[in-house]
Amino acid sequence: MEELVALCKRRGFIFQSNEIYGGLQGLYDYGPLGVELKNNIKQTWWASMVYDRDDIEGLDASILTHQEVLKYSGHEDTFTDPMVDCKSCGERFRADQVPDYCKEEDLTEPRQFNLMFKTNVGPVDDGSSFAYLRPETAQQIFTNFKNVVDSTSRTLPFGIAQIGKAFRNEITPRNFIFRVREFEQMELEFFVNPGSDDEWHDKWVELRLDWWEEQGVPRKAIELLYVEGDELAHYSKKTVDLMYKFPHGTEELEGIANRTDFDLGSHSKNQDELNIQAKVTKNASSNSKLAIQEQNTNKWLVPFVIEPSAGVERAFLAILNEAYRVEELKDGKTRVLLSLKPHLAPIKAAVIPLKKNNKDLVDLAYKLKNELQSMKLGRVVVENTGNIGKSYRKHDEIGTPICVTVDFDTLEKNKVTIRDRDNMSQEIVEIEKISSFFKKKISG
Ligand code: GAP
Repeated sequence: MEELVALCKRRGFIFQSNEIYGGLQGLYDYGPLGVELKNNIKQTWWASMVYDRDDIEGLDASILTHQEVLKYSGHEDTFTDPMVDCKSCGERFRADQVPDYCKEEDLTEPRQFNLMFKTNVGPVDDGSSFAYLRPETAQQIFTNFKNVVDSTSRTLPFGIAQIGKAFRNEITPRNFIFRVREFEQMELEFFVNPGSDDEWHDKWVELRLDWWEEQGVPRKAIELLYVEGDELAHYSKKTVDLMYKFPHGTEELEGIANRTDFDLGSHSKNQDELNIQAKVTKNASSNSKLAIQEQNTNKWLVPFVIEPSAGVERAFLAILNEAYRVEELKDGKTRVLLSLKPHLAPIKAAVIPLKKNNKDLVDLAYKLKNELQSMKLGRVVVENTGNIGKSYRKHDEIGTPICVTVDFDTLEKNKVTIRDRDNMSQEIVEIEKISSFFKKKISG
């Protein structure tokens, strides 16, 4: 983990948030390369859900959430972690995360601590007009269910996907970006006919494992945990957690839950008419019937929901961890390598003029950069340091799939040298063939 943290800071992937004022625990900022990798992860998830399939719509709902949404969802009552104080060191911990240096006899009895952040909405600060920062993106998908169905005429099965910030006042944020207080989720709520839910649940576990494999996190690196008993969330009939071996230990990367009809049923009006199967609180506030009319019978039914929910930060950490390696070279030196899948690489290609101060070489490098950039496959840069070896090392370390060197042969013979990040091979390529070479390398 230390090596990944050091690389992230050194190369501008991730910084401690608010660092110049001493930092705020559990918050991180994404630097020039971090924002690219994060965007690429989100884009590939979005494409796999919304563009590649024909049964999913997208949504981007507000973060500030009405108190009643999180009342009926069960979060006000149950979104808690047990917390203990240590009378000796004076610190507070999640009861299952007490460090070894605290003695059992110094700990208070655990008490429940709600993880939701509250804030004031509007100019009056008398406590009556508060809202929550959403603790999961899912709830606003449920509250928009009717809007999406009415505006798209969707029938079952279909899904609504959303990527966005979520906030949890974690008692002990830890392990770099693994457990933080502000993070992003990539969540799909997939609505199905009751009765077909188990089959769809199994299907989504497989689909998600395939997706992780495509991002460089192989199936063999993920264990399936069938969550049982008290560990199951209040809304879930069955949950499968994808457990990944993070540098600090094996923990949840993504959860895939069968949320039954709990959420739509909880937020719906006219609950008594809907034959809701989950145990829900009576809702007298909602003005929307969150149900769908069966095509043959015209009867109203509340769909079941299968929810694959992944954190962007945990995806970032797992992808980085899989891609990171330190290689011994023939000359006895080592090189650090980020062997990221090309579609995730923050920088897709670096164009390097052989000499820093040679106008012809530098101008041509920018011309080639602009040509590759215009293909819209991601960020392309000119690396004008005048030191080819150093540029190669840097781009190995940040995961740039190819480096294109512009030298005197380029000026005279219209040829560049393309160096591959993973095997360090060098290939002479004619300038007019660079675009197709680049496209093949990045998008396969
Ligand atoms: N809507 C369901 C839900 O929120 P969850 O298991 O609490 O379920 C889903 O969270 C995913 O969100 C987790 O698998 C994890 O990837 C990510 N996540 C949850 N809490 C997190 C935190 N404090 N920091 C970073 N990621 C977190």
